[in-house]
Amino acid sequence: MMLCQYLFFLLAFSFIATANVEKTIFIAPQPLTIPTADPTLDDLGLERLSSSSPVLRTSINATFPTTESPGTDSWYFLENLNPGQRYEVRVCWLATQPTAFTLTTYTLLQVIEEPSLLSSISLYSQAYIAASQSNAVPRTSSSFHDQAPTSDSVLFLRITAAADYYSLDTMLMENVPAVAADVILDPFVFNIFPRSLIPTACYICIVGCLAVVIGWWVLRGLLWVVDYDSQHPRDDKKNK
Ligand SMILES: *[C@@H]1O[C@H](CO)[C@@H](O)[C@H](O)[C@H]1NC(C)=O
Repeated sequence: MMLCQYLFFLLAFSFIATANVEKTIFIAPQPLTIPTADPTLDDLGLERLSSSSPVLRTSINATFPTTESPGTDSWYFLENLNPGQRYEVRVCWLATQPTAFTLTTYTLLQVIEEPSLLSSISLYSQAYIAASQSNAVPRTSSSFHDQAPTSDSVLFLRITAAADYYSLDTMLMENVPAVAADVILDPFVFNIFPRSLIPTACYICIVGCLAVVIGWWVLRGLLWVVDYDSQHPRDDKKNK
């Protein structure tokens, strides 16, 4: 029975240990022809996520939420999506940097029609380009720039990061350090289940089945002992 208990706790804790993940689920939009001539969209220089490069290790600026703004916005570009397919984008970060993240996706049309979104993107893009140039990070050339108009299913991803801690250290309260995080684009298999979680699910299934089988085996063993004992009273055993 100890083994069963052990397996049970293993199973229970494997469900609990999922802290510090925030995500959004969306359906990829229909492809749009991206106007390369449009100067507002040309060379935004955002970091990109696609099925071929689904993980982005980055650092996300955060601030304490105020009445005017819920946090600091960071923008990413999702491209080469499969129209109609369900995806999720997750952000995973360390428990040592308590932060509240909010993820929202916007289509190209929503961004073009909403001036506040466009200005938020261009503000972020300018800061990002300036920061990456000062760090001498070579920027990959924008595919908007050199290609003829392409048709692609794309989305803008906004990550709003709000610091979520209280510290006696005044430095920490005045300057929120950037949060090291992974941003992960994950397609759903058959639009039901995130692809990257399949190994975990298999593991949980195998452990679960093992627990049931072992449980039955132990129970049968116990029943057999009880059975044996009731058919062979202790006095008999001594005589043998
Ligand atoms: C992040 O914050 C740093 C420090 O305040 C700033 O220099 C940088 O431009 C910010 N990056 C972005 C992308 O906003």
